[in-house]
Amino acid sequence: MNEAKFKPNPDTHQLESGNYTWQSPSNIALVKYWGKKENQIPANPSISFTLSNCFTKTTLEFSKKEKKSEGNYSFEVFLDGDLKPDFAPKIETFFKRVEAYLPFLKDFHFTIKTHNSFPHSSGIASSASGMSALALCLMSMEKAMNPSISEEHFNEKASFLARLGSGSACRSIEGPLVSWGEHKAIANSSNLIGTKYTGEIHESFQEYQDTILLVDVGEKKVSSTVGHGLMNGHPFAERRFSQAHENIDKLKEIFISGNLEAFISVVESEALTLHAMMMTSQPYFLLMKPNTLAIIEKIWAFRKETGHNLCFTLDAGANVHLLYPKAEKEEVLQFIKNELVAFCKEGRYICDEIGFGAYLVDS
Ligand code: PMV
Repeated sequence: MNEAKFKPNPDTHQLESGNYTWQSPSNIALVKYWGKKENQIPANPSISFTLSNCFTKTTLEFSKKEKKSEGNYSFEVFLDGDLKPDFAPKIETFFKRVEAYLPFLKDFHFTIKTHNSFPHSSGIASSASGMSALALCLMSMEKAMNPSISEEHFNEKASFLARLGSGSACRSIEGPLVSWGEHKAIANSSNLIGTKYTGEIHESFQEYQDTILLVDVGEKKVSSTVGHGLMNGHPFAERRFSQAHENIDKLKEIFISGNLEAFISVVESEALTLHAMMMTSQPYFLLMKPNTLAIIEKIWAFRKETGHNLCFTLDAGANVHLLYPKAEKEEVLQFIKNELVAFCKEGRYICDEIGFGAYLVDS
């Protein structure tokens, strides 16, 4: 696959004004993407569970201008009804990156109205759900201008565009498992798009739960962009990138066998390795907080005592994602209430589970 696949065909239909609304979920990586090359190409393959309750709902209103803009794009962004001029630079950068694939961007004025199901102050990044929702709205416009686009191409191009907005966003279009980045054992895997994992998946993983413990809800001290950049010239980078390939091989086996002990071992190691890369970058930094570690210790003790299959993963922050089979939900939620809530900011946590991807709400 190469970028040329996503260059548009000449329009067959005219579009004047209208709106599309897409709801797109967040995702949580089991094997982490950390490190990238030019144009948002990942340094290693990753694989994630698509989530369900953590989502962004975006309405894109568009109206054709009398004359194509010469310079800037014409748009405004609202979050929950409030105009957000501080979101504009991110959208501007995104539009610049995707314009070669969506040449109509300067023909329209856009109003982007967005809502996140999770609170802005939760420390949960909205970039994956937000960028995928916007990419899908733009694809709905392209489809209106080119109705012959197939569903497969629609999803692939939405993922391709979302990736250019925020790497991991390309894994939010479909579900329940999506890989991104070339891997020899995953057919159709690509550096350009996220692809739905089509291998066998054991029933233990059906309706897998993700409860997100909110440990630190502030703005991150070091952004993902900076973190990815610090993998250039990182002393352990090459070994880490190979390890990600090996861990995907292991997960492929685990998805077939349903061996949850092996699953836990890969997933927790990936989370700690991600943070180990941060701690051994130059300059080094820490995104875990004391309560992150306290929660991890508690999880290990709980697992030893009860034999339950509860494990953790982390993204680029202090919050802890608790992953467990649905069959163990009652006991795990009791454990969270009894022992973990004390380590959460204002006792806050979000219950989520794996989901099936984005959908069109309205048009
Ligand atoms: O998509 P970005 O640039 O925000 O990077 C995401 C990186 C991690 O969440 C840490 C890992 C991943 O694969 O999602």
